Amino acid sequence: MPGVQQVEHPVRQHHAATFLEPARTPRHRGAQREEFWVVECHALASLDPRLPVVNPASFPRRVMNLRPALFLLALTALASAAFASREKPVIGLSLDTLKEERWQRDRDTFIAEAQRLGATVIVQSANSDDTRQVRDVESLISRKVDVLVIVPHNGSAMTRAVKSANDAKIPVIAYDRLILNAQIDYYLTFDNVKVGEAQAGYIVPRLPKDRPARIVRIYGAPTDNNAKLFKQGQDNILGPLIKAGKIQVVHEDWALDWKPENAKKIMNAAVTKAGRNLDAVIVSNDGTAGGAIQALQEDGLAGKVLVTGQDADLAACQRILRGTQAMTVYKPLTKLSHLAARIAVEVAKGGKPAATSTLHNGAKDVPSIFEAVIPVDKDNLLSTVVADGFHKAADLK
Ligand code: GAL
Repeated sequence: MPGVQQVEHPVRQHHAATFLEPARTPRHRGAQREEFWVVECHALASLDPRLPVVNPASFPRRVMNLRPALFLLALTALASAAFASREKPVIGLSLDTLKEERWQRDRDTFIAEAQRLGATVIVQSANSDDTRQVRDVESLISRKVDVLVIVPHNGSAMTRAVKSANDAKIPVIAYDRLILNAQIDYYLTFDNVKVGEAQAGYIVPRLPKDRPARIVRIYGAPTDNNAKLFKQGQDNILGPLIKAGKIQVVHEDWALDWKPENAKKIMNAAVTKAGRNLDAVIVSNDGTAGGAIQALQEDGLAGKVLVTGQDADLAACQRILRGTQAMTVYKPLTKLSHLAARIAVEVAKGGKPAATSTLHNGAKDVPSIFEAVIPVDKDNLLSTVVADGFHKAADLK
């Protein structure tokens, strides 16, 4: 209708394509953005003074008589859109990073299960940048997702993003890592203290008994609450032995952003400071273990010093068979991602699925579920990681 301003804005129905991810990977470059638009006629001059004012009274009578029917139609459309969204919830998945092998697997298995349950997923990855992750969550909120699933880069930095979600009445699930001091609805993860206990518990019986053992400790990212839980688990085992002088920590530090290159620097510094007479390096995950082992290789110590890890990354499993890494902690990721997809869909539909535990995050006792973890070395790698189909035996060679 010439002279009338049209205002367009996206509606809630299917407000994201079936699967949206910044097309960083060739595999997804095909995904196209689909959005639906509603056109509303505004004859009010207030919208754009450049356009002439149109008086609705000039509309033909028969058009005006259609108003009640048009109104009913719009109402029904909105109701069916609301019903459709409950039946086909949209989940906003905000990730810290996709740099590590495990997060790619979490993403893919989560999306597959969510889609199997009739939901659609919008994925954002913040590349370990807090400001960007807050922005990612804000944009998911503005797209009116039905539920948010967040892997925080920094458990404290996401507090204000969760506040925005609370204000928008969008439920929030913390995935794998806890969000601190925030009103979140669920925390779904593995037993992270058990991870640390498994790492230290594996090393202690293998340390020399005839003299104080000399170990290095490389913790995870200080921004990640899990890194503190892993350390707590290790402390539960090592603490009394360190106190008794049976174990000496010759060097320890935190690997910023879980970066392998940061772990390598810490390991180089440890050898420089404490020399080559080392018995073990307790490292919190496989990515950083890879960095530490690189440094040990440079000093001809790889395979002579026990090194721990976590995540059963492919490279780590290969190192375990080659003998340069002693163990890893296998976390059956699909169990966690499928659980999270199921809970996200139920919550999006207004449900209150039961949790098995709680954890206080500084703001509330968060309903939580802690999945079990499995220590793995060369003796049980095939019967765990391979048997589960997490890796193929052929790929471990
Ligand atoms: C932790 C996670 C580990 C490890 C690490 C680095 O929070 O629980 O599995 O991958 O992050 O991303």
